[in-house]
Amino acid sequence: AGQEGTFSERSFVMIKPDGVSRQIVGKIISRFEERGYKLVAVKSVTPSKELAKEHYVDLAQRPFYPGLVDYITSGTPVVALVWEGKDVIRQGRRMVGATNPLQSDPGSIRGTYAVSVGRNIIHASDSFESATKEIGLWFNDKEMSSYQPTAWPWIF
Ligand code: PPS
Repeated sequence: AGQEGTFSERSFVMIKPDGVSRQIVGKIISRFEERGYKLVAVKSVTPSKELAKEHYVDLAQRPFYPGLVDYITSGTPVVALVWEGKDVIRQGRRMVGATNPLQSDPGSIRGTYAVSVGRNIIHASDSFESATKEIGLWFNDKEMSSYQPTAWPWIF
């Protein structure tokens, strides 16, 4: 996922089916764009059970795992995104807010749009290792772009 701690650090973000259904995809993308992050990959996907299970494999023993997989594979698409920029993994998590939206800061994405942990709108990688795994799971190299946004010299 790029180089950890550099301008090329990358994070995987997924707008979950509730975010797509509620038609706030553009608002969520805008938050990352406005912060100064670069969109390097984007696609709409209706995940298979296999993909959802693999994405959340670390949670396989948790009681909510089957429900979480059902939610992600509801049949409504998700939007898979890769964002690049300085500290994007940690800042992405801060922008998303606490897992339980009732504990998310009001200004965060979950704190703005959600009230239920099982319908919390968005996922963002929690570490460099997770980001590397998740980007590789959802995208191939041909789907990743390389370009210099004109705004970057003014942001970094
Ligand atoms: S952990 O291991 O306790 O820290 O897990 P946590 O970070 O709290 O949550 C991991 C992901 O599981 C989702 N989650 C749930 N989904 C549905 N129902 C319940 N009760 C539930 N609890 C946690 C949570 O949103 C995290 O998913 P992502 O997509 O990574 O946000």
